[in-house]
Amino acid sequence: MSTLTIFSSVPARAAEAEAVPVATGRPIPAVLGADLEVPVKGGRLVGYANLDYAASAPCLEPVSAAVTAALPAYSSVHRGAGYASQLTTARYEQARHTVRAFVGARPDDAVIFTRNTTDATNLLARCLPAGTTTVVFDTEHHASLLPWEKSVRLAPPAFPGEAVRAADAALAGIDGPKLLVVTAASNVTGELWPIAALAHVAHRHGARILVDAAQLVPHRRLNLTALDLDYVAFSGHKLYAPFGAGVLIGRRDWLADGEPYLKGGGAVRSVGDDTEWHDDPEPRHEAGTPNVLGAIALAAACDALTATGWTALVREEERLIARLRSGLASIEGVRELSLWGDDHPRVGIVSFTVAGYSAREVAEVLSGEYGIGVRDGKFCAHPFVRHLLGEADGGCEDGTASAVRASIGIGSTQEHVDRLVEAVRDLVNR
Ligand SMILES: Cc1ncc(COP(=O)(O)O)c(C=O)c1O
Repeated sequence: MSTLTIFSSVPARAAEAEAVPVATGRPIPAVLGADLEVPVKGGRLVGYANLDYAASAPCLEPVSAAVTAALPAYSSVHRGAGYASQLTTARYEQARHTVRAFVGARPDDAVIFTRNTTDATNLLARCLPAGTTTVVFDTEHHASLLPWEKSVRLAPPAFPGEAVRAADAALAGIDGPKLLVVTAASNVTGELWPIAALAHVAHRHGARILVDAAQLVPHRRLNLTALDLDYVAFSGHKLYAPFGAGVLIGRRDWLADGEPYLKGGGAVRSVGDDTEWHDDPEPRHEAGTPNVLGAIALAAACDALTATGWTALVREEERLIARLRSGLASIEGVRELSLWGDDHPRVGIVSFTVAGYSAREVAEVLSGEYGIGVRDGKFCAHPFVRHLLGEADGGCEDGTASAVRASIGIGSTQEHVDRLVEAVRDLVNR
């Protein structure tokens, strides 16, 4: 039988707000499912080569352990006097502080738990001051491209400096409130965007910036304060915490003034003839029972990554992605998609096409014959993929103009990478 002794180790709220996880350089943690076996053609079982982390990453062991540890005392949050309820509430609120520290947010930034990145961008979209114009590049994932009522769309820039110049020009031409939305690392090419320079330009024009960090935070450290970002959004399931939570972090004022995202219990101070809503963004936008285990999982992932230290994580990822890219580049007919060229820094994501095969055919062969999981399609970034493939590929509507995406992270191995390269080589040589 479990006992509830952990409560005494939950620090007081004020102390928690200051708490920053210390990088101790622990070994890279394991992921669940590393020994998963899957059937391939002929009925054989082979070890699964999961190369689809950019869609959803596997669960880190410390994340699963944190959820398992929280379950025996699982109870309601923010409404129970019982000990288990207080403990679960403390864990939920501690998760907020952990996530805040993970992205280096300002002490007074709001940290609102959502379902995922899409939910977070939509929440911010609902809270924009009336008449806000959003500036967004056509390279964005649909989660950051579509939620805006009034937006100016910018063509994919030919080089990073062009992105800054185009944002500068667009923002200069807009009156009233404005928001620049940009993804930190592309889910199609993995390429890193110049978010510090874009934040600078946004602020020079009195605009704010939202950074979609869904593909960045699993791979690189992000410091919201140092980069001077106004809002950041990301998802737990891409950060080794697949328990259904995401987060929106950033300046309180727009979120405090915005219409409550969900209307119901928890978001209100009192209901009588008039309804008095909470001014604090967290309760205001988290009505109903929140996803407590999702938040605990997300925080556990943040802690695990911080404790491991980014140097070790980035070094291993860069070694594997370089091997994957050079292996694919050595195969005739394989073309890697890239906006800013081979040498531009990127996270562990590679999208490519194989001459003579549709992306779906390649993905099916990789899965059915080699036990490799990749993504094929347009990756919820239709305008960008259309741009990268060019008109010669027939546009996005013909069912063939798609790409294959391989993506890696913690738990990816050299054998997985080599298996993919050799499988594509075999396919091309058939
Ligand atoms: C860059 C980027 N932004 C947003 C999203 C949306 O994430 P979610 O499906 O968790 O809302 C994704 C998912 O692929 C993504 O890659």
